[in-house]
Amino acid sequence: MKAYIQEEFKKIYGNTPDKVFFAPARVNLIGEHIDYNGGLVMPCALGNGTYLAIRKTTDNTFTFRSLNFPEIVHKIPVNTSGYAKEDALWINYPLGCIDYFIREGKTISGLEFLFYGNIPNGGGLSSSASIELVTSFALNNLFNLGKTQVELVKISQQVENKFVGVNCGIMDQFAIGMGKKDQAIILDCQTLEYSYTPFVLKDNTLLIINTNKERKLADSKYNERRATCEAALEIFNKTESFKDLCSIPVDYFEENKHLLTEEMQKRVKHVIYENLRVKESEKALKSGDIEKFGKLMSASHKSLMEDYEVTGKELDTIYLESVDFKGVTGVRMTGAGFGGCAIALVKNDRVEAYKKYIEKIYTDKIGYAPSIYDVSIGEGTREI
Ligand code: GLA
Repeated sequence: MKAYIQEEFKKIYGNTPDKVFFAPARVNLIGEHIDYNGGLVMPCALGNGTYLAIRKTTDNTFTFRSLNFPEIVHKIPVNTSGYAKEDALWINYPLGCIDYFIREGKTISGLEFLFYGNIPNGGGLSSSASIELVTSFALNNLFNLGKTQVELVKISQQVENKFVGVNCGIMDQFAIGMGKKDQAIILDCQTLEYSYTPFVLKDNTLLIINTNKERKLADSKYNERRATCEAALEIFNKTESFKDLCSIPVDYFEENKHLLTEEMQKRVKHVIYENLRVKESEKALKSGDIEKFGKLMSASHKSLMEDYEVTGKELDTIYLESVDFKGVTGVRMTGAGFGGCAIALVKNDRVEAYKKYIEKIYTDKIGYAPSIYDVSIGEGTREI
């Protein structure tokens, strides 16, 4: 892939790039919508992701191109005082990273960028965080900015929150920055302490099922869920001082949930019990109990469907049609929801039967086909 993108860069810009970088996509195995509530999450980095070939220039211009949108060229003059968001363009991700460093007083000179991504677009596998990480990593490397990998993770989240305007948690950027081959990350989003656990699937295969639903309104609904959680915490904290929703003991929640509106009760119930499911999942995976882990995955989806209400009929069709299918160990949506992808753990000897079944029933019920991919778990952001 490196040779291919170098070759394309040369064809487009007439020069060889200085360097080529890669940032993966991610899936979250369990712990959904709790990163911004101080919870535990268990994501991993994928083998697919975003490639960036880049070259320093002397013409005081940033040129952005992508092999995914070959006809589009964006040229932006190098500026010393920050940038404004462009209207709904993918270049906001790299532009936001440049803007961050410029506001910090760093000097970033002219650059030619060529991106290439093999992450399904809009599939909820964090293509945006992948572009942020690959860009901030490249800038840090080319201009010797001295940031650690975890600092680049935090900077990329800031770009998404403040520049792009999506109030996401830290999970995606962390998984993409810090992923390790064949390992799941267990990340405490309150303290940023983390560890790895081998993701050993025994006789199972991990599949990604893309709903292929356009994720309209996903960002605004995401911000809405986050605001509801913050409002609920504020109500409990009139008399308590919890750091976040995931620090609330189950007993306290059960005894005091009447203080919340009905809608808030459902949201907070998901958050508190999902955090417990991640703890149990860690135990299950560490002791090799993949059946137990599968059950926790499915319980997570049910909670996201009934209480957090971020699934929708496409993801629910996948869940409902899969959960009792022979050979399915566990199934759930992954990421923000409202479309995007589901993941399924399926017994190796049932994978073909399952793929056939889910493809047909989903197409019959939804009106268009899903896409199904085999997953490999890869390394985090790096120079290649
Ligand atoms: C999106 C966000 C993450 C996380 C997930 C839901 O992917 O970017 O921070 O909140 O949704 O778990």
